[in-house]
Amino acid sequence: MDERDVLVVAGPGDVQDVVLSAAAAQEVAAAVVTAADEVAVRWRAAEAVFIAGDLAESVALRALPHRDGVFLVGEDPAVLALWSAPLGARVISLPEGAGWLGAVMTDPGQGGGRAPVVAVLGGSGGVGASTLAATLACLASVRSGASALVDTDLVGGGIDLLLGAEQAGGWRWPRLSGADGHVGDLRAYLPAVAGVSVVSMARGPAIDLAREPLAAIVGSLRRSHGLVVVDPGRGLTLAARESLRLATRVVLVVQGGVRGVAAAREVVRAHQLEEAALVVRRVRQGVAPAVVGEALDLPVVAELPADKVLASAAERGEPPTRAGRRYLAACRRLLAALLEDDHG
Ligand SMILES: Nc1ncnc2c1ncn2[C@@H]1O[C@H](COP(=O)(O)OP(=O)(O)O)[C@@H](O)[C@H]1O
Ligand SMILES: [Mg+2]
Repeated sequence: MDERDVLVVAGPGDVQDVVLSAAAAQEVAAAVVTAADEVAVRWRAAEAVFIAGDLAESVALRALPHRDGVFLVGEDPAVLALWSAPLGARVISLPEGAGWLGAVMTDPGQGGGRAPVVAVLGGSGGVGASTLAATLACLASVRSGASALVDTDLVGGGIDLLLGAEQAGGWRWPRLSGADGHVGDLRAYLPAVAGVSVVSMARGPAIDLAREPLAAIVGSLRRSHGLVVVDPGRGLTLAARESLRLATRVVLVVQGGVRGVAAAREVVRAHQLEEAALVVRRVRQGVAPAVVGEALDLPVVAELPADKVLASAAERGEPPTRAGRRYLAACRRLLAALLEDDHG
């Protein structure tokens, strides 16, 4: 068995068929074992392990060492839930979760070696998170040739508006087939403004994460762009949580005043953010950025000056790169710091 094969622990039947067809669609080699006692020798070397629900108990009873990239696949949610913790496995329930198989197969840990994913979160409403996300994406496209901006904020009104791109109708999540979870190069489907591929889920029916896995979309964008910026908005939605999970860096924009810090603290708590880079938006009579950092116990990586041009540019549908020099310079420094970190 090759190091990079996936291991499929399933007897003949639906689960085996579905997993093998996903593997075939992804051109991933799969080794099949049909009994739990054959699992141990292949357990460590496999790139990912897919275990059918009906074999979960017998595999769990072998008490194999914990490893990443283990997935329990089946139709009975109760069985999957029961054995997920003992196996350290994530659950893929069929049939609706089939779309996940391909996504996790090409990238079991959803990490590794590809374009960074930066999520820009607002510590309070209207603090400029979406504007910063759009600006970073625009600046990154100049720097790296192509960047993507993914809007998963259901009530944000659509980040395409910020780029002056709303006239291009139908800028929505591409409806994926979901059958094999394969998401090819999306650039062909996504209109680009100033070199930024925009994926917006606002102003329409919410996506069904089980059927159109954000992970697969972001994974695809990471393969074809130099940077992926995600705007999860401020809601504690499933899409927002998933966005943060997929992010390699989280940037939290904090209004640099007492109330801004208090609000940001709640965001940190609600999302259980352990590692986030703070960007402080200066306000009159605010507190020093260092104080903001101390209060939230997170590093401050940039300060954003107020910029009068931004609001009117957004209203006119002009990109935020029309902002003044000081704002853009701060964004450029932030971008450099984020990209540098990711390579370091
Ligand atoms: N640095 C800034 N200075 C002044 N106005 C800003 C700045 N950043 C954003 N804005 C404006 O503030 C408003 C809210 O910005 P937005 O990016 O939508 O915030 P959020 O996504 O955090 O709710 C918009 O009108 C935007 O143009
Ligand atoms: Mg926003």
